[in-house]
Amino acid sequence: MKTGSTSTLAWWQHGVVYQIYPRSFQDSNGDGIGDLPGIKQRLDYLTWLGIDAVWLSPIFPSPMRDFGYDISNFLDIDPIFGTLADFDALVEQMHRRGLKIILDFVPNHTSDQHPWFQESRRNRINPRRDWYIWRDPAPDGGPPNNWLSEFGGSAWEHDEATGQYYYHAFLKQQPDLNWRNPELVRTMHDVLRFWFDRGVDGFRIDVLHHLLEDSAFRDNPLNPEFAPGMRPSHALLRVHTVDQPEIQSVITGLRRVADEYPERVLIGEIHLPIERLVTYYGVELSGIHLPFNFNLIGAPWSAAILREIIATYEGALPQGAWPNWVVGNHDTGRIVTRIGANGARLAQMLLLTLRGTPTMYYGDELGMADVPIPPELVQDPFERNVPGIGVGRDPARTPMRWSGHNYGGFTDGRPWLPIGQGLARCNVESEGADPGSMLSLTRRLLRLRREEAALAVGDYQGMPCDEECLSYLRSHEGRQLLVMLNFSEGPRRLSLPPQAPNARMLLSSDAGRPLQTVRDSIALQGTEGVIMEVV
Ligand code: GLC
Repeated sequence: MKTGSTSTLAWWQHGVVYQIYPRSFQDSNGDGIGDLPGIKQRLDYLTWLGIDAVWLSPIFPSPMRDFGYDISNFLDIDPIFGTLADFDALVEQMHRRGLKIILDFVPNHTSDQHPWFQESRRNRINPRRDWYIWRDPAPDGGPPNNWLSEFGGSAWEHDEATGQYYYHAFLKQQPDLNWRNPELVRTMHDVLRFWFDRGVDGFRIDVLHHLLEDSAFRDNPLNPEFAPGMRPSHALLRVHTVDQPEIQSVITGLRRVADEYPERVLIGEIHLPIERLVTYYGVELSGIHLPFNFNLIGAPWSAAILREIIATYEGALPQGAWPNWVVGNHDTGRIVTRIGANGARLAQMLLLTLRGTPTMYYGDELGMADVPIPPELVQDPFERNVPGIGVGRDPARTPMRWSGHNYGGFTDGRPWLPIGQGLARCNVESEGADPGSMLSLTRRLLRLRREEAALAVGDYQGMPCDEECLSYLRSHEGRQLLVMLNFSEGPRRLSLPPQAPNARMLLSSDAGRPLQTVRDSIALQGTEGVIMEVV
């Protein structure tokens, strides 16, 4: 796939995004919950690591039923995290270091404690009634239709006082906003402007595909593939509740607001198949800059499947659309737990050498694993609503490990989630001192990506390779880098492509390996990956 010229590329194209889950990054006041002053204390770490932009999961006032994804005021900071002054100080310090800041925008719903919803539920003629989605009961008094909440149960909640139901795609404490109401749309646009005016460089937009539902409120069809053990919401196909055609005008509206400011980025959280996902770039790229590509999260971890995914995704991108890749976030199990420690090293190399903007999840650079959470400590409302099928998200949200002491240097108090095992080995301090660590590998990869335009912005060309390996060329202005990744556990001898028979190794995922010159073929260890310059 061809990439545009570097001079026209923006920071969010050549940069690397790092997601911070603010509750778990650094506590500064001993309450066991991370906060903004804590993040500010750790900015030197982020520059040392070598990332370019930080995305913060929600930091706005919230009853925390869904840990900040239930917002009760879009225009302030929750006291747990600090104040607007702390926020401004953080932005100032980040910009001084050349770091960009991306906030989470949650447009699909508010908290039921948001004053808008409090007004909306007051009576049927309240001007804010139509800001949410209200419906009369079905003739039998039950919910208006069969729509299901992502977090279990019906998506409709009955309101005694006004005799109608309101729709909530997530918790009943997260009523859905009505994006067909023009006043609501204008108000939400002003939310974006409020933060852009404070210097925010972009937004990650929560569940963008969920913003609109069928205006005729038709039932969703049954999912013929539904089986026990699956999430209850998967009992239906979400034909009428996600990805509705009018979403296109919503995303162009959001983009127009971002375009009022220079060099801002919109990243969309969208869980859809590739062919639908890419429509969120919008007509002639008038939509979202980076619709999140989660294909590396869901996929079985094999070279053959990944090869297919990369080709399909590259092939589906509209002309000029910028790709992006994600291997972990706050909603999914940690990569180390999914595919093992060696696999995670290879995944880091894949993430940081594919074409497109990578998003890293805090702690993955240390190889942090899922921390098992005993039932009495479970915090995640999804796990509480739907226990026992492994949907819990707490294990991947545990505190960042800065050192081997006490609570890993995260807090002086008692952390809101347990720290987990293996702290002595897996923490910033000890891994920083160990050239063979996951942290050192990540830093080397990030440094190389910064030095080599071919890696950051170069063209991508998949190369034929052993079935259990991936090989691709990244090239820019005549310089070519060849990436070879061995997904099998055993050693493999791989031929260099005929157009690039001579190469010099720049980096191996095995820190102990001498960087040699390679001719015609290279022997890789099990789950080893290498980056070479073609000479
Ligand atoms: C997104 C968030 C998730 C949240 C949900 C509801 O999927 O990433 O954490 O629970 O939206 O807002």
